[in-house]
Amino acid sequence: MIIGKISRISGPVVHARGMEGIKIRDLVRVGELGLVGEVIEVKGDYVAIQVYEETDGLQVGEPVKSDGKPFLAELGPGLLGMIYDGIQRPLEAIRDQTGSFIARGATGDPLDRTKRWHFVPTARRGEHVSHGDVIGWVQETPAIQHRILVPEGVSGKIVTIAEGDYTLDEPVAELDTGQQLFMKQLWPIRRPRPIVQKIAAGVPLITGQRIFDVFFPVAKGGSAIVPGPFGSGKTVTQQALAKWSDADIVVYIGCGERGNEMTEVLTEFPHLEDPRTGQPLMHRTVLIANTSNMPVAARETSIYTGITIAEYYRDMGYDVALMADSTSRWAEALREISGRLEEMPGEEGYPPYLASRIAEFYERAGRVICLGRDKRSGSVTVIGAVSPPGGDFSEPVTQNSLRIAGAFWGLDARLAYSRHFPAINWLTSYSLYLDALQDWYTQNAGPDFLEMRRELLEILQKEEELKKIVQLVGRESLSEPDKLLLDIARTIRDDFLRQNAFHEIDAYCPLKKQYYMMKAILMFYKACQDMLSQISYEEIRKLPGWEHLSKMRYTPNDQTESFFPKFIEELSAVSQEAVA
Ligand SMILES: Nc1ncnc2c1ncn2[C@@H]1O[C@H](COP(=O)(O)OP(=O)(O)OP(=O)(O)O)[C@@H](O)[C@H]1O
Ligand SMILES: [Mg+2]
Repeated sequence: MIIGKISRISGPVVHARGMEGIKIRDLVRVGELGLVGEVIEVKGDYVAIQVYEETDGLQVGEPVKSDGKPFLAELGPGLLGMIYDGIQRPLEAIRDQTGSFIARGATGDPLDRTKRWHFVPTARRGEHVSHGDVIGWVQETPAIQHRILVPEGVSGKIVTIAEGDYTLDEPVAELDTGQQLFMKQLWPIRRPRPIVQKIAAGVPLITGQRIFDVFFPVAKGGSAIVPGPFGSGKTVTQQALAKWSDADIVVYIGCGERGNEMTEVLTEFPHLEDPRTGQPLMHRTVLIANTSNMPVAARETSIYTGITIAEYYRDMGYDVALMADSTSRWAEALREISGRLEEMPGEEGYPPYLASRIAEFYERAGRVICLGRDKRSGSVTVIGAVSPPGGDFSEPVTQNSLRIAGAFWGLDARLAYSRHFPAINWLTSYSLYLDALQDWYTQNAGPDFLEMRRELLEILQKEEELKKIVQLVGRESLSEPDKLLLDIARTIRDDFLRQNAFHEIDAYCPLKKQYYMMKAILMFYKACQDMLSQISYEEIRKLPGWEHLSKMRYTPNDQTESFFPKFIEELSAVSQEAVA
């Protein structure tokens, strides 16, 4: 045990002396209350500590203690369904114990130590196992089988292993080296968990959100950023993805901006239903919550705790999606701590290492071959919201995130203001994954899926050009084909891209329905183009098809196959009648 004394207190940063042998990133307990902190700077005898709890009332001279070990996340069955703070303290247990979410000096085991889990071995006596091998599993929730992995630094021949009910403190197997295997393991959160190798991103994360699945898909193992001004829909978007995307596991990190925003998440999430299983969504979700009244240092840590948990499930072979809302709050925590350390500030007061920290975080996304003999693959997809002050995307957090993320989903204040939701700007947003996903879409979404995507985008781009002309010379001066294009573009925007996250049907759109909706719009467009030579545009405007298109998104999802082929046929028949 290393014991020193507090020499200075500067908000969340505490300085100490007399801690010989202490290293950067070591976990410490500060003061009589034993507040949790982490060493962030060591210079000779002088140590700077970021403290994860309110430092009010701490006094110079109080003790600082450390085991000389970094902060370790506890990984094992029981993570799913939990709500943690940034240093993995179980918020509900702490609240039950102390009556508040953030009692100082409170400790609580991240994972329940008394609960017995039924362990089923898959490895046998006599087998040689090492880091990453699966030795058995536990049914963690009805939805998720939790594979028990051999931790780093452990290898040998199994001498005992048996099916049975165990707590996390009881070994489930023993090796000839004398090492024991438990269902839980520890991991230093700032170090990426090792893998065999990253593999190409070839499968999209299907989100059920048309703007993403059709226009700007993110690959499983990829990364996307959602920058947007105040109130433009960052949180609604992140939550829609948490609910609907086809990830096996969701890790949701909330860095509350407004005090009540996180409370909403904390009260809402536990009641959400998993649309795929009808079970609580929390059965495959881990929440990490930072309310705005929690200290900044815990916020800084939360994204590492979150991504470590995400990597752990990836290592079992799962597809994990991690949402961080908002990474700007994390960057601000970094800035505040750096300021307290009196470091030389970089752009807009952020520390010069902001860019590398952002890059390191997003680089932990990936589709990988996991360690272990049985050739599993898994993925972590990272989706980070960014809240640039004043909605100005040229600020450092947005710019540095943009440089590294593979998809850019730009929220637009104007669209949000006109209540076009999701307010993703289709002209400035992009995905760098399209080439990698091309084969997947062609094989799984329809051979003409991407071609239709291209046509829709082209219409929207053309609309932009025409709008400029209309501003100059008025709509009446446009040719009839151009007028038609503008109306079709509006249909694409209003009836296809808009998607109401709160509508019971529209909230989720299966890929097949997205396919048919595109087909219906383009089919109708072509029919109208053909008709233009025979009837006036006025008459085309009166066709009932326009209204039918505006309702198709409310078709119950389970009637996709029974409805759309007929719908598309009728659309074209009605158009032919109009000409006849
Ligand atoms: N897809 C959507 N469908 C329907 N309404 C939406 C959608 N997206 C956003 N909204 C509306 O916009 C409001 C603001 O969205 P949200 O809270 O997600 O914004 P935000 O960008 O997270 O804001 P803040 O900057 O305050 O965190 C929501 O309360 C909702 O009314
Ligand atoms: Mg928000």
